[in-house]
Amino acid sequence: MNTLKKYIETHKDRFIDELIALLKIPSVSADSSCKKDTISAAKFIAKSLSEAGCNHVEICETPGYPIVYGEKIIDKNLPTVLVYGHYDVQPPDPLELWNSPPFDPIIKKTKLHPEGAIFARGACDDKGQMYMHIKALEYMTSSNKLPCNVKFMIEGEEEVGSENLGLFVKKNIPKLSNDVILISDTGMISKNTPSITTGLRGLSYVEVEVTGPNRDLHSGIYGGAVANPINILAKMISSLHDDDNRITIPGFYKNVKDLSKKERIEMSKAPFSIENYKKELGIDDVYGEKGYTTNERNSIRPTLDVNGIWGGYIGEGAKTVIPSKAFAKISMRLVPNQDHNEITKLFKKHFEKIAPNGVNVNVTPHHGGKAYVTPIDNDGYQAAAKAYKTTFGKSPIPQRGGGSIPIVALFEEHLKTKTIMMGFGLDSDAIHSPNEHFGIFNYMKGIETIPLFYENFVEIINKN
Ligand code: BES
Ligand code: MN
Ligand code: MN
Repeated sequence: MNTLKKYIETHKDRFIDELIALLKIPSVSADSSCKKDTISAAKFIAKSLSEAGCNHVEICETPGYPIVYGEKIIDKNLPTVLVYGHYDVQPPDPLELWNSPPFDPIIKKTKLHPEGAIFARGACDDKGQMYMHIKALEYMTSSNKLPCNVKFMIEGEEEVGSENLGLFVKKNIPKLSNDVILISDTGMISKNTPSITTGLRGLSYVEVEVTGPNRDLHSGIYGGAVANPINILAKMISSLHDDDNRITIPGFYKNVKDLSKKERIEMSKAPFSIENYKKELGIDDVYGEKGYTTNERNSIRPTLDVNGIWGGYIGEGAKTVIPSKAFAKISMRLVPNQDHNEITKLFKKHFEKIAPNGVNVNVTPHHGGKAYVTPIDNDGYQAAAKAYKTTFGKSPIPQRGGGSIPIVALFEEHLKTKTIMMGFGLDSDAIHSPNEHFGIFNYMKGIETIPLFYENFVEIINKN
């Protein structure tokens, strides 16, 4: 057994215990009642970075949650890897659908994870994946195997739009200078099919409010004679897709570039079973834009989804009422070349235009961000691919992901370096969902693969 494997084997239980301690902290950035805990998660990370061998660690205050910065600079002439991750998590709701409390981590065996998986909010997104990097650093510093400089930037506002991180990056360009950015905050195809995420979708997130009468009305006295905002909202939302499931907002597809036939053929080679997909989700069929495969629909095509809708009476029993207002939260996933600010404007203009007389609509933009794609012919990708080849015995498959990490496009814009996304999560890990978990196998494989990335990266850079 080599030193890396031996180190991991020896310290495995502690690696798990430490992650469990981190997962016990309810660092929900969206929930202001979790403020103290979110700040204590930042402190936890700062301490872990020091213990893992960083020679300088600071908690950088922002108007929101702090950014934890840590570095180990061994020689200014050597390359530098910048690791990004986030210590904040999504709200755990709906709580009643969890089989165990979201901030009381437990290890359970599942069919897919006979070695066990840690169930807790943030287990995969992103505490588990981010912590793999800290443990990889611990191995490299304690075994004298760190071949270059490393910087860590771990934020606490990823799940709410990373507003303050954007500013932090712009203000700290020299401090954050690097040769490659490394992130584990995405997934891989399956436990035995490693993949590297080569793209992320952009995002435009809006909230809409439809107002009808100035107060709630008796639906018998007024029903049929005034616009019901919920009926109208439902109608407006359903008109946003046509019969081919294409989005009807004028100009929405204007800047969307179609992939070449060759690229689409290449994409279709990734292993995928539509039958398993349906089975796992408990659906009898897939659904989406005509002319595209499931994997195209969820990565290279833009989408529009309602994320929440409310209004009227939802309490126990029945109440015959026409509400004054109806609301919805809507997200649009965007692809390269679509500008999220422009899409937000197009949405607003269209939504206001399709509102019939009798209601007023109000569109409020939330956060947004650009899509990202990275080529595979760069040193970082090659270093990562070689690392997976060693630990999985297979070359990873490049795969464009459907999720969004808006800050990645900003990294490239300001820091001028490529981001390599070595995701170790699985789609079935239920991120953002009840019973989120992260396989012990995945956690350990991550810790094993990351140090090889550093080794390969320095070796490749020296050769070129
Ligand atoms: N880690 C995810 C993004 C992700 C997950 C990308 C899986 C690819 C595969 C990240 O924490 C996230 O949830 N991002 C949000 C966007 C953010 C602006 C709230 C998302 O994608 O909804
Ligand atoms: Mn994440
Ligand atoms: Mn997330």
